[in-house]
Amino acid sequence: MTSFTYEQKQTILQVENLSVACNGKIIIQDINFTERDTVRPDRQQGQIIAFLGRSGRGKSTLFRALTGLESPTTGQVLIPDLAKEVTNGNQPAKKVTEGDVGFVDQKYTLFRHKTVFQSLLFAMRRSTLSLAEKKEKVLQHLSDWGLTQVKDQYPVFLSGGQRQRTAILEQLLSSGYYMVLDEPFSGLDVGNIESVKRAFQWVNASHELHTIIFSTHDIELAVELADSIYVLGYPKDEKGKLGTAGTLLKHFDLKSMGLAWQEDFGNHHLECVKMIRETMLAS
Ligand SMILES: Nc1ncnc2c1ncn2[C@@H]1O[C@H](COP(=O)(O)OP(=O)(O)O)[C@@H](O)[C@H]1O
Ligand SMILES: [Mg+2]
Repeated sequence: MTSFTYEQKQTILQVENLSVACNGKIIIQDINFTERDTVRPDRQQGQIIAFLGRSGRGKSTLFRALTGLESPTTGQVLIPDLAKEVTNGNQPAKKVTEGDVGFVDQKYTLFRHKTVFQSLLFAMRRSTLSLAEKKEKVLQHLSDWGLTQVKDQYPVFLSGGQRQRTAILEQLLSSGYYMVLDEPFSGLDVGNIESVKRAFQWVNASHELHTIIFSTHDIELAVELADSIYVLGYPKDEKGKLGTAGTLLKHFDLKSMGLAWQEDFGNHHLECVKMIRETMLAS
């Protein structure tokens, strides 16, 4: 394995004491984690963070809270406030609100009555660029993502792969740096899995602060793609009794483990897969 040097810079996502209850039932609780901008000397590098956990452990609930779609019962989700000036090398933080963070749901929902081009232009509505600049940016992205030939199509006429790329681009253009994708690989054939992986890698390499957060049931895929993995599950008490609200059980920092950014998926990766599987099975 190659060893890479990197530094952890400004905080890009801070979740403090987060809990969410629905109709009086606590779904997730005591969620605490911090993610920082990872800086590598030799290249532009964003962040890819995966959440794993058995069904019903609260991944989707957590994701709705991370994007501001769900108000937390306790705690908060903080992101850098890019509108404010940096002071002492730190970007002031703000509480996440709806629209700050792009959200791609499992169905890759698109506007039915907008063409690919119209959807992407609409996604840039909060941008301060001129209309001509926005159009140019959209056309450039369509070209980079191999979507030029379907730019005037409506979603029903798109293939699965074109649909995913459009949905991801839409969130990339609307939110800027953060993107949360709930089970983006579920139900895809091998070709489309590759196309979403490539989209992730493109997003990751195109800006230092780009941060992709996704959930999946495919542990190997998470270990292959992510540089940070959290396992969400029910905790066990001293007597071994399983709790009923999801919380973070383990964090695998693949950067410090030397597993991130490797060309090959080797035995060390498989050992990590095994540790994650054991954590999940016990939760
Ligand atoms: N709006 C809601 N009202 C009540 N219960 C909910 C609501 N949303 C999710 N739940 C429950 O919360 C738990 C976690 O669900 P979810 O976040 O979808 O988990 P996951 O994405 O990990 O499968 C499940 O038991 C689900 O039934
Ligand atoms: Mg879910």
